[in-house]
Amino acid sequence: MERFIPDELIDRIREGVDIVSLISEHLSLKKTGQNYTGLCPFHSEKTPSFVVSPAKQIFHCFGCGAGGNVFHFLMKNENLTFPQAVRSLSERAGVKIPEANKRDEKIEDAKEPLYKANELTMEFFSKNLAEAKEGEKARQYLEKRGIEKKTIQEFNIGYSLPQWDAAYRHLRQKGIDTAALEKAGLIIRKDSGDGFYDRFRDRIIFPIFDLKKKVIGFGGRVLDSSLPKYINSPESPIYIKGENLYCLEKARQEIGKRGYLLIVEGYLDAIMTYQKGIRNASATLGTALTPGNLRLIKRFTSNIVLVFDPDSAGKKAAIRSASLFIENGMKAKVASLTEGTDPDTFLREKGVDAFVDKLKNSEKLLDFVIRETKGKEALSSIDEKVRVVDEVLPLINRLPNKIERNAYVRRLAEELQLDEKDIFAELENRIQKKGYKPEDKKQSLKTGTAHNGLQKRMGHSGAKAEEMLIHLMLNDESIAKRVKDHLSPDDFKEPLFKRLTGIIYNVIESGREFNTVFKTEDAEMAGLFSALSMRELDYDDREQSFFDCIQKIKGAGMKERMKDLQEKLRIAEKNGDKDSSRQILEKMKLLKQ
Ligand code: UTP
Ligand code: MN
Repeated sequence: MERFIPDELIDRIREGVDIVSLISEHLSLKKTGQNYTGLCPFHSEKTPSFVVSPAKQIFHCFGCGAGGNVFHFLMKNENLTFPQAVRSLSERAGVKIPEANKRDEKIEDAKEPLYKANELTMEFFSKNLAEAKEGEKARQYLEKRGIEKKTIQEFNIGYSLPQWDAAYRHLRQKGIDTAALEKAGLIIRKDSGDGFYDRFRDRIIFPIFDLKKKVIGFGGRVLDSSLPKYINSPESPIYIKGENLYCLEKARQEIGKRGYLLIVEGYLDAIMTYQKGIRNASATLGTALTPGNLRLIKRFTSNIVLVFDPDSAGKKAAIRSASLFIENGMKAKVASLTEGTDPDTFLREKGVDAFVDKLKNSEKLLDFVIRETKGKEALSSIDEKVRVVDEVLPLINRLPNKIERNAYVRRLAEELQLDEKDIFAELENRIQKKGYKPEDKKQSLKTGTAHNGLQKRMGHSGAKAEEMLIHLMLNDESIAKRVKDHLSPDDFKEPLFKRLTGIIYNVIESGREFNTVFKTEDAEMAGLFSALSMRELDYDDREQSFFDCIQKIKGAGMKERMKDLQEKLRIAEKNGDKDSSRQILEKMKLLKQ
């Protein structure tokens, strides 16, 4: 779905969105001088090191190194690609991106009637619940379950009439095609092949929304204890269960404030937590968590708390989801309620405070998995211990952080009363056999901490000079042009600066506007740009600084090269290679000039 977006449109979109107002919607910013500061949403911190500059329309976190313009903020915050971020801001900027691709348009067009069918069906079900005579028992049922009128409205809860074709007739009357109704799963073809009947009859209806708040499907619960308890919309072009979550469209706002997403099992659990004021909860749609679900969640947070009845199948599902969370670099915890109660009953019987307590006491998913696989009894037989190691070690192995991995190995050894050396050996063994690679490096890039503390990483001499010179170049095109006459990108030792200088020179050579230097899609580069741009130019004398930096960098480069040549000379002489020796000596002479 990603198509080329012309640069000119990208510029207009960027200019059309004010970075301070965009970011204020996600965290609270305080004006400090010319800039705004706040707590960085990309790493946890207690004192604000996240700075937004309205003048430069960029942000930068001095704690974790993340930074850039409005697009980079959105990319990081909602886990989007660059084109996705551009598209997502286009409406806000009032810039229309022409849809070039006919095929995609057709797919979108084909979905429209399904959305429409669902929307009208939802209205019909709502009306039935509010007004129909047959809806009385549904109204009573919801009241008995403690669901308030306001909640019914907020969740658009409805009721489907008992007749075989009440919805079908109503929607046909509203002008919706039978084909669309069938595709949306609202009606089912009769076995005789002749005619249709309603999928949802005599049930409480919970509409399911996507993030754009469009109705994509329904869940229908019986009013008594008959089976099946729920009938759900089948998957359709607009409804994919593994890529949606119930109530996420409501929870998304609150996730930012609370810093995590609660995942519950049932529609009614999500509804009750919401009604009780805990509004960062969402429910799976009757399936186990999928990679698609996690991708969706990651747009908002990487912190999850799973809540369920410890007696239920959800426990097994949680254990199964552990590897998925770890692979996606997400942090999941588990809040276990009293046996036999789901969040809905727990909240109504024990109250919000008790529920919040359970959330506070939630346990890391991996701890939970270890505890559960081990069971309550002390393990006596070796076989049982091996079974636990077999189940838990692959998970530990996938943890991105070595310290955490080692801590868990020790933990597992302690729990099972085994020698930790044996478990470490087993871990090593598996790493070699299966070729598992712990992904420290990828992880750090993803979280954008790669150039955290530039100074720290650049231990070599001349580092400060390189940084100052880049800073000068970015602030002043004419200086950049002059640097180009004196230094090549390879004269810079810091790899990031090498790359950056290359980009600057390219822009100068191509004759493009100097500003295009800043239009990088590369998050690491964006962070570097924002870091350097945020800093004021406080050099007393730019000309002198320029000159000093060039000298210093050339000098540093020269010393390095001289050392290198001396070493080569030594080897050549040792081997009695006269030709090489002579060539090297010549180079050394040239260098000294
Ligand atoms: P629950 O049985 O816990 O349902 O199933 P619930 O929503 O909490 O309802 P109450 O409290 O018993 O009235 C959890 C979820 O599993 C799916 C639904 O998504 C449900 O919300 N489910 C359950 C089905 O799809 N079909 C079923 O028959 C049962
Ligand atoms: Mn329930």
